[in-house]
Amino acid sequence: MEKNRAEWGSRMGFILAAIGSAIGLGNIWRFPYVVVSNGGGAFLIPYIVALLTAGIPILILEFALGHKIRKSAPGILGTIGKKWGFLGWFQSAIAFFISSYYVVIIAWAASYTIYALNQSWGVDTKDFLFKHYLEISESPMHLNGINYKVLLPLFVMWGVNYVVLRKGVKNGIEKANKIFMPLLICLLLVIVVRGVTLPGAVDGLNYFFTPDFSALANPKAWLAAYTQIFFTLSIAFGIMLTYSSYLPKESDIVNNAFLTGFGNCSFSLITGIGVFAILGHMAMVQGVAVKDVSAAGVGFAFVVFPQAINALSGAKGIIGILFFLCLIFAGISSSVSIIETVVASLQDRFNLERKKAINYCVGGAFLFSLIIATRAGLYILDIADYFLNNYAIAISGLLEIVLICWIKNPKEIIEHVNPISEFRIGRVWEFCVKYLTPCILSVILVLNVLNSLKENYEGYSTEAILIYGIGVLVIATGGAFVLHKKSNYEK
Ligand code: ALA
Repeated sequence: MEKNRAEWGSRMGFILAAIGSAIGLGNIWRFPYVVVSNGGGAFLIPYIVALLTAGIPILILEFALGHKIRKSAPGILGTIGKKWGFLGWFQSAIAFFISSYYVVIIAWAASYTIYALNQSWGVDTKDFLFKHYLEISESPMHLNGINYKVLLPLFVMWGVNYVVLRKGVKNGIEKANKIFMPLLICLLLVIVVRGVTLPGAVDGLNYFFTPDFSALANPKAWLAAYTQIFFTLSIAFGIMLTYSSYLPKESDIVNNAFLTGFGNCSFSLITGIGVFAILGHMAMVQGVAVKDVSAAGVGFAFVVFPQAINALSGAKGIIGILFFLCLIFAGISSSVSIIETVVASLQDRFNLERKKAINYCVGGAFLFSLIIATRAGLYILDIADYFLNNYAIAISGLLEIVLICWIKNPKEIIEHVNPISEFRIGRVWEFCVKYLTPCILSVILVLNVLNSLKENYEGYSTEAILIYGIGVLVIATGGAFVLHKKSNYEK
């Protein structure tokens, strides 16, 4: 165990940082369109089941490992079993690739905060996003050069991440979260209050909350729920292992995990209330059904929400700015956690100075993000996001559980957690992590492979899937292998 490891300044500091990492684009940009693509209210049941059976149990597992071993992801897993250091590097590689598209979406949000001032997106918000802002090319294989409208905010957003990381765990990450999290919640509450008081809001809320039990038989909704929970709780890609490695000795693991899990998912539900209330109003103004106004996809927040803002009768600019600021604040508090995972791995496996590790990570991820700033960026992001979430994170989660629960003994985690936690874990937790979640993850992986063999994701060309989807998985695996071979897990 490392003696001089950075630590959070307070328990509150850790909780805010962990919730700050969890609450991110996944809650505001991804959650609403995943709900829409899975039949509205029907999605909430699998989502809550996934939170309780996989999300919180794995959070407890990762918090316990980080707290116990106090190293970065490769260090933790390499200490448990030398060979398994590879898995830690694989998780760091996933974080590296996610950070390179994640910051681009924050950059889009920065541009849209300015566009929201006078709703420069006009009436045809789809046309504005794709043609005027992203200047989208005809296919993922046509990069057509860098889009400078994206590059400028991208540069600024990487700058903000760099500054926060350079200030360190306590003075940078913890402080940034102490500012961003309360601000984010205030902004969101303004949006929600405005949303639910609009005429027609109730139709949007009905769509969001009415469960459609027949949809529960659809494996697609279950698949989406579990992958969303992994992404939204920042589990299985090294982040929570890294953050909990900065916990002081006396830390209540179980309480922290429940607070983080419920805090994050309540935030998603509250965001859903605000977004769907406003969509309900828009549907009323346009005289159509809610399900017909809410086209799904990665552009959801940038197409549908601007339309909804257009439909407001007053305070359009303010609500628009607040919404995109929410995306920026939530995004940055998560992006720093994603990059910190890679920084910590390089720092403690190669004895690098923190400054150097940050320079390598931010510099490298910035270069990768330039590909997403090209005119084919949206396609590439969509493909990479799908493959990283549906394959890389699912495989990583499965391997992590197999290691701890099948190769090692999960009782060791219980013995570590119970003496320091107010609520004790036992058989239910063990059942979830040892049997239930691995079964579900295996089914998810098999279904994903079958889907991928049947048809290319979203009809993209095989060439594009091979380069931006499978290619990213191959580079992540190869990179992890090389770094693993060069690592020394004795320290
Ligand atoms: N947990 C982060 C998010 O949801 C990565 O955006």
